[in-house]
Amino acid sequence: MKPAPKTFAVKSFGCQMNVYDGERMAELMAAQGMTAVADANAADLVVLNTCHIREKATEKVFSDIGRLRKDRAGRGEAAPMIAVAGCVAQAEGAEIVRRAKVDVVVGPQAYHNLPRLVADAAAGTAALDTDMPAASKFGALPARRKVGPSAFLTVQEGCDKFCTYCVVPYTRGAEVSRPFAAIVDEAKALVDAGAREITLLGQNVNAWTDGDDRGLHDLIRTLDRIPGLARIRYTTSHPNDMAQGLIDAHRDVESLMPFLHLPVQAGSDRVLKAMNRSHTCDSYLRLLDRVRAARPDIALSGDFIVGFPGETDAEFAETLRLVDAVGYAQAFSFKYSPRPGTPAADMGDQIPDAVMVNRLQQLQDALNRDQLAFNEESVGRTCEVLIERNGKLPGQKLGKSPWLQSVLLSGEHRIGDLVTVQLTEAGPNSLKATTNFAS
Ligand code: 5AD
Ligand code: SF4
Repeated sequence: MKPAPKTFAVKSFGCQMNVYDGERMAELMAAQGMTAVADANAADLVVLNTCHIREKATEKVFSDIGRLRKDRAGRGEAAPMIAVAGCVAQAEGAEIVRRAKVDVVVGPQAYHNLPRLVADAAAGTAALDTDMPAASKFGALPARRKVGPSAFLTVQEGCDKFCTYCVVPYTRGAEVSRPFAAIVDEAKALVDAGAREITLLGQNVNAWTDGDDRGLHDLIRTLDRIPGLARIRYTTSHPNDMAQGLIDAHRDVESLMPFLHLPVQAGSDRVLKAMNRSHTCDSYLRLLDRVRAARPDIALSGDFIVGFPGETDAEFAETLRLVDAVGYAQAFSFKYSPRPGTPAADMGDQIPDAVMVNRLQQLQDALNRDQLAFNEESVGRTCEVLIERNGKLPGQKLGKSPWLQSVLLSGEHRIGDLVTVQLTEAGPNSLKATTNFAS
């Protein structure tokens, strides 16, 4: 028997969906009377909310567990309980208990059971739950508490696309949309708790459906009417689910921010086919033309993988050409990482690391160049900035532009204020702004 934990810390890795899940787990434990502490080493219970998307992310979990276990050696009953949540928990299950001797393993669809699992672990019973129950966990979670000005709201989970490199369909399961009314209620609760911006989350958020004929754009148009909600964003989207209604919403709905994260992964049609992406380079570019026609100032973002099995130099050059054609405002790019159980992991012609390193460098140079260019083109624009936190310097505040750029400004602004500014100076990762300009 261990004493029941009184304090906890949640450490989330990976995507924004994990950040959201981490917040919900924290709320769940707070509702049990436990207190959150910032320092994981000082907590009675540490929840590692893990990511399995690339090998590096997974290895980080095991090194973190190793560090925690070392810290707790010799601390007897004062040793923290370790719970592994998230996608590594889902993928590895009992293997983690065996390999890393943690106390609790809980998958992304089962974390509403965390309090019971912690109690089981304290009582010395095996505490593992990686079920994907038909009934959603959301109904079993406590109401949203105080949140920052920019909040996440998961509306859709899972993926049916089965891109050949990706573990998500296995760890997060099939595509499931949360009900319309539950989402609207949670959005209102978030606004009541202080949110001015909501980012709708899903592994394929633009595949959200109410089961009849309503899509993400209908949800956005409804959320747009919530008093006090100034900004709506959504991420991450699949090109094949980019309905005309959603594109139109970018033209019509003022609170829908001019930003679209639309992963393409590669520029070669042969590679895209081998990835099972079900779009071509050209169909992606034509889709972006339609998006830009609806919202000319939209900032575009994407994800890229270099060194997918069999990718030739010429095929990689097509990715660079695609980047040149689009002019991304920002993007994420990764070396291909073979994931056990995915089709691509068993494909021949895996690309040597040195080649991937070189391609990634070339791609990131191009993406960084375009990001700086986008920021430089923004100089002189007036826009609203949502103040999210204090900056590093005294009196400095940090906020986000409509195009998701980080903006630094000084002045007596409060966190959560929407301030009209003029952008004055651009760097690669942020801009400076002033409120002192002639309008
Ligand atoms: N290797 C490298 N990158 C990957 N991603 C997904 N799976 C892998 C993998 N096996 C990237 C994709 C995806 C983003 C979330 O992570 O670019 O869009
Ligand atoms: Fe993974 Fe592809 Fe699904 Fe995105 S669309 S989560 S990359 S399988």
